[in-house]
Amino acid sequence: MCPQQNSKKGSDAFGYAKMQDLDVSGKRLLIREDFNVPIVNGQVSSDARIHAALPTIRLALEGGAAVILMSHLGRPAEGRFEEATSLRPVAEHLTSLLGQTVRLERNWLDGVTVETGEIVICENVRFNRGEKANDEQLARRMAALCDVFVMDAFGTAHRAHASTVGVCRYAPLACAGPLLDGELNALQQALEQPARPLLAIVGGSKVSTKLTMLESLSDRTDQLIVGGGIANTFIAAVGYPVGKSLYEPGLVGAAKALLAKARHAGADIPIPQDVVVASEFSADAEAITRPVDSVRENEMILDIGPATCARYHELIIAAGTLIWNGPVGVFEFPGFSAGTRALARSIACSNAFSIAGGGDTLAAIDQFGIREDLGYISTGGGAFLEYVEGKVLPAVAALQARAGGS
Ligand code: 3PG
Ligand code: MG
Repeated sequence: MCPQQNSKKGSDAFGYAKMQDLDVSGKRLLIREDFNVPIVNGQVSSDARIHAALPTIRLALEGGAAVILMSHLGRPAEGRFEEATSLRPVAEHLTSLLGQTVRLERNWLDGVTVETGEIVICENVRFNRGEKANDEQLARRMAALCDVFVMDAFGTAHRAHASTVGVCRYAPLACAGPLLDGELNALQQALEQPARPLLAIVGGSKVSTKLTMLESLSDRTDQLIVGGGIANTFIAAVGYPVGKSLYEPGLVGAAKALLAKARHAGADIPIPQDVVVASEFSADAEAITRPVDSVRENEMILDIGPATCARYHELIIAAGTLIWNGPVGVFEFPGFSAGTRALARSIACSNAFSIAGGGDTLAAIDQFGIREDLGYISTGGGAFLEYVEGKVLPAVAALQARAGGS
């Protein structure tokens, strides 16, 4: 299911201006995209986010606009160009998907020449000093590029940056794009009255960013499963050795508190019973399955074991609604992909309404071929989780403020 199909046409639930309602003919549209996609050997390796953006770009072209795209990629240091996080592979990929040249502009802050029907993509917004601090002067320069600013990057709507929030304030007109609007409507519909039990599976390696989210999610969900680097912190919290595994010692106390709270509420956060370890972080490393209490000093946990997969399967099958963000192992390495594959299959065969989001999660969904078996797929990672938690997304608030005349 794609977000556009799910969007309630004409719904004003979020109280912002919408691109679909504007006459964009002859206008310069500056569209903030989330093209933060994985790049391998100079090529886009998972293009779900790019695909999700195409309907908006096509709508702009059909409406007679001149199209300027901007996005971040990765987390480069501000103030200089970096080849590794250049949007060149994205520009090339877009060119082939659209069958039309998408011109990459390396220096764009002083103005971009673009005609009706043309598409230009500005080089990585995070190369600009002041982007993350939402610098006013930078935001004004972005705003000066266009007649209409279209915020369509749902995946970056939780960042209050110059290219998401600042530009929205200073552009002559600012509106939500169909992807952002579709995502918000679909998630709102799915979460208003979820079928119970509501199970959230939160994995991945960004431990510090997700632990706070877990705290909120534990209040809203009936059951939580943690995976990846996050699970390692929980494994350490119950007192098992984690060897060289990725984990955050400073958050062990927070994990302990979450475990106690969940137990009190009658919904344990299950700790993996068995794990797959290696002595180095490498695709060729030997994969060894061990009981969770037997990880050696020189080993790192890279996946969950079969007994844990079986336990998670039962919980997933019993769920009424499932929220999935983040893999449970290093699924990019074949020797450590079995846990995420098993999880994906369990989700695919569960009757629960399943909502999935996140860059890595999208890549796993594609790798294990379960796209058709999910209820809803979001392009957001952190934004998806923050929305699910009930937080206000700053870019959405900025659009609403514009609509309110401020
Ligand atoms: C994401 O991938 O979650 C978004 O593109 C935001 O990226 P960020 O976490 O680097 O801000
Ligand atoms: Mg991410």
